[in-house]
Amino acid sequence: MKLIVMGGNGFIGSEICRQAIARGLRVVSISRRGAPKRREPWMDDVLWFKADIFDTHAWKGVLEKGDQVVHTVGILLEKRKKKLTYDRMNAESVIVVAYTTAEAGISVFAMISAANSPPFIKGYIHAKRKAEEYLKNQPFRSVIFRPGFVYGPGRRGTAFIAALTRFGLHIPVAGKMVETYAPVHVSHLADAVLEALEKPEIEGILDINTIRRTAQTVSGREVHT
Ligand SMILES: NC(=O)c1ccc[n+]([C@@H]2O[C@H](COP(=O)([O-])OP(=O)(O)OC[C@H]3O[C@@H](n4cnc5c(N)ncnc54)[C@H](OP(=O)(O)O)[C@@H]3O)[C@@H](O)[C@H]2O)c1
Repeated sequence: MKLIVMGGNGFIGSEICRQAIARGLRVVSISRRGAPKRREPWMDDVLWFKADIFDTHAWKGVLEKGDQVVHTVGILLEKRKKKLTYDRMNAESVIVVAYTTAEAGISVFAMISAANSPPFIKGYIHAKRKAEEYLKNQPFRSVIFRPGFVYGPGRRGTAFIAALTRFGLHIPVAGKMVETYAPVHVSHLADAVLEALEKPEIEGILDINTIRRTAQTVSGREVHT
């Protein structure tokens, strides 16, 4: 049994891979470019498989019965000329992976969804909800993470945006508006993902507060925004 991270070289995916290796798991990342550009010792223990997520014939050979799958592929902004639409990248990419991995007999599928769209962009969240809907009634256990804004050292400038959002949360009225963007540190999100994969009783949608509480059970300390 191993962990397959779709998009394991990305911001969230690479933190999940890093922590999974620290937990002693066998980890395979699947993405177009393979290993991240930066080099860190734990990366030597990951199998960085290069493939396009939609080219299922290229990667389905790595799957084994009982594997765990985490889907972290997605886009924040569409590039329609390059056919990178919300529907394709945030919905179809999940459906294609769920279909292919179900056939291989995986045990659990985790998807990084979102609590809300970036302001004024509704297509993003519609596609996420479409993918979530598909994950219902599958032969595997599915766990859907709906974080707000994810920050951490792997993405420059995000700590500053997280600080601004945190400040906004305490302002009456405005606080309600930014509630669904409440920041979560990428390491806490990864903690919650890996914990959920291991706990068969965790299933369905995990909102921002549940993500925080689940991460807390790992660190043993209170996890704030
Ligand atoms: N960051 C946030 O604040 C946030 C908040 C809420 C939800 N989310 C969701 O979390 C997920 C991950 O976000 P992120 O910020 O970590 O994204 P990211 O850093 O852009 O990572 C995306 C990953 O997807 C891979 N990828 C893209 N197109 C692919 C394709 N056609 N085939 C295979 N792999 C492909 C990329 O690797 P290659 O380029 O090597 O293919 C990369 O590993 C997304 O679904 C996003 O919507 C993010």
